[in-house]
Formats: sequence, structure tokens, C-alpha cells
Amino acid sequence: MGRSGLHENGCFLCLILHLLLQGRGHTFTINCSGFDRYGVDPAAFQAVFDRKAFRPVVNYSIPTRVNISFTMSAIVEVDAQLQLMTSFLWLNVIWYNPFIRWNPEECGGIRKISIAAKNLWLPDIFIEEFMDVDQTATGLMAYVNSEGLIKYDKPMKVVSICNLDIFYFPFDEQNCTLTFSSFIYTVENVVLGMEKKVQEISNTSQNLIRSKGEWVLLGIHQRMMKMTVGTNQYDQIIFYVAIRRKPSLYVINLLVPSGFLVAIDALSFYLPAESENRAPFKMTLLLGYNVFLLMMNDLLPAAGTPLISIYFALCLSLMVVSLLETIFITYLLHLATTQPPPMPQWLHSLLLYWASPRKCCPTAPQKGNKGLGPTPTHLPGVKEPVELVGKVSCHIESELNGCPGSAGTQQEEEAQKQHLVDLWVKFSHVMDTLLFRLYLLFMATSIITVIVLWNT
Ligand SMILES: *[C@@H]1O[C@H](CO)[C@@H](O)[C@H](O)[C@H]1NC(C)=O
Ligand SMILES: *[C@@H]1O[C@H](CO)[C@@H](O)[C@H](O)[C@H]1NC(C)=O
Ligand SMILES: *[C@@H]1O[C@H](CO)[C@@H](O)[C@H](O)[C@H]1NC(C)=O
Ligand SMILES: *[C@@H]1O[C@H](CO)[C@@H](O)[C@H](O)[C@H]1NC(C)=O
Ligand SMILES: *[C@@H]1O[C@H](CO)[C@@H](O)[C@H](O)[C@H]1NC(C)=O
Repeated sequence: MGRSGLHENGCFLCLILHLLLQGRGHTFTINCSGFDRYGVDPAAFQAVFDRKAFRPVVNYSIPTRVNISFTMSAIVEVDAQLQLMTSFLWLNVIWYNPFIRWNPEECGGIRKISIAAKNLWLPDIFIEEFMDVDQTATGLMAYVNSEGLIKYDKPMKVVSICNLDIFYFPFDEQNCTLTFSSFIYTVENVVLGMEKKVQEISNTSQNLIRSKGEWVLLGIHQRMMKMTVGTNQYDQIIFYVAIRRKPSLYVINLLVPSGFLVAIDALSFYLPAESENRAPFKMTLLLGYNVFLLMMNDLLPAAGTPLISIYFALCLSLMVVSLLETIFITYLLHLATTQPPPMPQWLHSLLLYWASPRKCCPTAPQKGNKGLGPTPTHLPGVKEPVELVGKVSCHIESELNGCPGSAGTQQEEEAQKQHLVDLWVKFSHVMDTLLFRLYLLFMATSIITVIVLWNT
């Protein structure tokens, strides 16, 4: 009996305690009378300020809901070498403090007041990608309304690590993440929420970033996550910030001049092969291109191998190849005019094959002939190369074999030699045209490949 009485007594006590605790909700009401006449009484808020070391909740089983939002006001810098994005954010943090509450009617309709943030409990929201010390200004204020809702805004210079892929430089788009999370509070104590729709954040930021910088904000997307570390779970909000580089600077300073130099290099094939100018001209171009690359090196990202570097290397190799080709043709011409070697049979046939379509499509092979300037080797009366090839080969053969029957006159021999020289010159020109076409083909395919890669 006594035992049960004691039990009932205990229950009564706990009921009173419960009622008392519930009643305390009213004791948190701040007496705001006189705020409109004498200003805010610091003593009225003293109880709240004294609790700032602790999370402001009545029941510790209930987590504090912290709503966040931000506005990106600038993208200051994107460093490909350090893989860092520097941006400027205005962070808005909103939460509820049940110990602050007043009746606005009692104090002339004051609905919100500002309080120095250092007097209040602040949620420790941080950005996980942050790579710098927080340089947030001190002495910030927070707005508190009569319901206990606290709005705390702070400007932040965010130096965040970002996985930058510069392969498509200067036509690259980057996708940087900003992960907001509480530093120590687990899901049981702090849950995160969104204050605004992410579309709204994205719109406001896009309108705000009016700077004529290098980067354009494409949009912001968001995802809620829970991170588990050991047995603890932390709430996270991940924002994906998509940015795009404005390529005009690089197109004007890098791609266009480079393209011009390569185009001039290609056009220099129209300089006559016999002229002494072709090789020096190409050499000068090559030198100029090297100087250009040296000067523009600062504009290229320092890390990784972007496609543009491959493009430059390609342009350089095209120039080198074209110079080599010129050297080869010059050598061939020199050989042909000084001591033409006997022309092998297969070369005849090849030359024949190359020379025969002359009638059907006269434009292309004439180009080779056009370059033939007034050279000492030039024979005016070459009309039937087929016949000549046969004759010459016969004579060469007989000469080589030491054929005793071939005791032609001096004049005849001279003429044969001239034919041979002419053939070799013709061969050089055919070779030049062929290599030029191969060069054009290679250039076109590689440039198309690069452009296609850039567009994907
Ligand atoms: C509020 O404070 C004023 C004096 O500052 C006092 O007269 C009034 O009774 C108080 N009201 C309550 C509900 O405690
Ligand atoms: C605190 O909150 C938890 C969960 O909502 C509830 O079960 C518990 O009864 C509350 N405690 C008090 C004293 O109100
Ligand atoms: C946070 O936002 C949710 C809706 O997203 C809202 O229900 C809640 O009241 C907000 N909390 C605070 C403290 O603003
Ligand atoms: C950014 O990357 C994340 C995954 O890493 C992806 O879910 C998201 O869609 C990407 N956003 C954009 C705009 O590409
Ligand atoms: C954002 O802007 C787009 C057009 O720019 C508009 O269609 C959309 O409704 C806006 N969204 C919000 C939430 O303001």
C-alpha cells in the first residue's frame, strides 16, 4: 500500500514538474514594454544572451532546423593549376530561437530588432570545399523577429576546391560543388533546409553577377545528402555551380593568329618550287610561330594538357612538315638539274599515270607547271612525255650497259640529257603537288577533328 502511495506521490510530483516546465514557455516572453519609448532594454535580453553557448531549444531531442540560402555575387577567379575557384557569396542563415519572443502590441508594434550576432548562438555552417581561412567580417548583426526567427546574413569570400577539367579550354564549362554542412552538429541536433528554391538562388545570382569577368554563371543546382562518418550522420546540402568561360579573349589572341600563320604556311606552297624564297619564307614563319607561342604561353592554363596545346603542337608540326617538304623538293630539283640519275621504270609508269589525267582535269596539274619559272633547265617543246620517257630510258640503259652501238652524236646526247632533266623536274613538280595535297588533307582532318572534339 505504502509503496503504491509513494509511487502515486512521485507521479504527482512529475506531473507538477511537467506543468511547470510547460509553463516556462511563457516565462521566455521578453517584457518589451518601453522599447518604443526608451529603446531596447538590454536587461530584457540578458537571459537570452546568457544562453548563447548552448543550442537554443527547449527539448533537446528536437533538432534545430537551420535554413540556408545564398546569393553568388561574383566569380573572382578560377585557378586551374591550384584547382581553386574564388567566389563571393552572401550567405543567409535562418533558424528559430524559442527563448526570444515578445508581444509586438505591448511595445508599439516593434516586430523585429537587430542584435549583434556575437550575443547569439550561431549555427556553425561551413562549406566543405573551403580551402582558406574564413575572412568573414566581425561585428555582424542578425535580425530577430517577435516570433524568435533569427536571420543572419554574412558575406563570404569562398576559396573552394573544385575539380577543374581544362581539356576543352578555352571552350570549357566547369561544375564546382559547394557543400554546406554543420561542422559538429549531427542530424539529431541540426537539420538543414533550403530557405529559397534553388531556381530562385540561381536567378538572383545570375542577375547579380554583372561583372564583365571571364566566367559566366550558367546555373546552380542542388541536392540534399546525409554524410555518415562512423556512427554519426551529418546533414548536407550540395550546390552544383555550373560556370562557363568566355572564350573570346583566347579565340582572338590564340586561335586566330595561329590559324593565320598556318594558312600562310599552306599558301606558301604556291611560291614556285624553283624560287630561292620558299624555304626561307617557311623558316621565318616557323620562327614567328615559335615567338608567338612563347608570348602567349601565359594565357594557357598551367596544369594539364588542354586540347588547344595539342592544336598548337599540330600547327607547329604542320609547319615543320611543310619546311621539310620544301627541303626535299629543293633537293630533288637540284639533283634533277645538275646530274639527273636514270629514272627507274616504275617511276616512269607512275609519272605516266600522273601525267595522263592531265587532259581530263587540266586545272590541278597545271598548278605544278605554273610554278615553272624561266629556269635554265626548262624545255619549251615537251609535248609528248610518254614518248620521251621511252627514248630516254632506252638510252640510259644502253649507256649504263656500255652498249657499243649507241655512238650517237654529241647533240643527240645533249638532247637526251635535257629530256631526262625535264622529266625529273616534272617529277619534282608532281611530287610537290602530291605532297601539298597530302598536307592539305592532313591539315583539314586534324583541324576538323579538333573542332569536333571542342564541340562535344
Ligand atoms: C514589464 O516591465 C514594466 C516595467 O519596465 C512593468 O511595469 C510591467 O509590469 C512588466 N510586465 C510584465 C508582464 O512583467
Ligand atoms: C521531447 O521531444 C521528444 C520527441 O519529440 C518527445 O518524445 C519528448 O516527450 C519531449 N520531451 C518533453 C519533456 O517534452
Ligand atoms: C525552413 O524551411 C521550411 C520549408 O522549406 C519551413 O517549413 C521551415 O519553417 C523553415 N524553418 C525556418 C527556421 O525558417
Ligand atoms: C555537376 O556534377 C554533378 C555530379 O558530379 C552532377 O550531378 C550535376 O548534374 C552536374 N551539373 C551540371 C550542371 O553539369
Ligand atoms: C528564373 O528565370 C527564368 C527565366 O530567366 C524564369 O522562367 C523562372 O520562372 C525564374 N524562376 C524563379 C524561381 O524566379
